[in-house]
Amino acid sequence: MANRRGPERAEATELSRPAGFEAPVGADAPIMDVLATMRAMRRLKPDPVPVPIIEDLVRAATWAPSGSDAQHHAFVAVTDRDQMARLAELWVDVVDVYRSLMGTVVPGVDDERHARMADALEYQAEHFADTPLVIAACYQRSGAGSALRSPRAGVELARDLGARRLARLARGGLAASSLPEASSIYPAVQNLLLAARAHGLGATLTIWHLFREADFRRVLGVPRDHGIYALIPIGYPLGRFGPVRRRPVDDVLHWDRWS
Ligand SMILES: Cc1cc2nc3c(=O)[nH]c(=O)nc-3n(C[C@H](O)[C@H](O)[C@H](O)COP(=O)(O)O)c2cc1C
Repeated sequence: MANRRGPERAEATELSRPAGFEAPVGADAPIMDVLATMRAMRRLKPDPVPVPIIEDLVRAATWAPSGSDAQHHAFVAVTDRDQMARLAELWVDVVDVYRSLMGTVVPGVDDERHARMADALEYQAEHFADTPLVIAACYQRSGAGSALRSPRAGVELARDLGARRLARLARGGLAASSLPEASSIYPAVQNLLLAARAHGLGATLTIWHLFREADFRRVLGVPRDHGIYALIPIGYPLGRFGPVRRRPVDDVLHWDRWS
């Protein structure tokens, strides 16, 4: 069922681990317990993250697979206080945009969870300038989509593929122009988040920068041929990792055929 804010979400009723489960932290933590307790961590200590650890996070990100093995990742790690203050100013504004878009209710999220998330968002916005590390995950735009937009490449493609196949490709051109890059950067982002967890760091994958993409791009100095796909605030957590509440497997898994 759809409402004004989009499709209704299924109820997330299942806890990934029993309540009160002691979430393991560190490089030796069992991977399934780590995955089950990777909450978005928005309350962070201001303590700096050492440079070798930041390099380790980005190295882990580069170990992720990428389409055609292109490896067009790029990361901007912000630790400078003046830069962080510039990002904080933009951040407060985009959180406001998000609040007005989503109102006070997120479909499928019960009141208690919504209130907890709203409190955490509030805290993060107020303390954003003290975030020790923000990593912007970028990827070079050079996929099939850009080939399709170039007339010269189009002629070559028409020769190689034939007009009918090219026309079919062009119809999906928009998706082709952003999907390959997004599909390549997000596995890297997840690796980065898992590496952060191994170092006892908390983080959140965020995309609100898209509300003011040009301003974030200007502050971060990201060139036009690269997209910014995620902004990840990272730091030692004030809160604790713990079980996540998600939809049960039976709700999302279809065997052999959807229906
Ligand atoms: C694609 C994507 C975009 C997200 N964007 C944001 C964001 O802009 N701001 C934010 O605070 N959290 C963002 N999140 C985090 C989600 O809100 C979070 O994962 C979800 O609420 C579940 O929270 P939990 O893991 O603590 O249970 C994003 C997550 C994903 C996967």
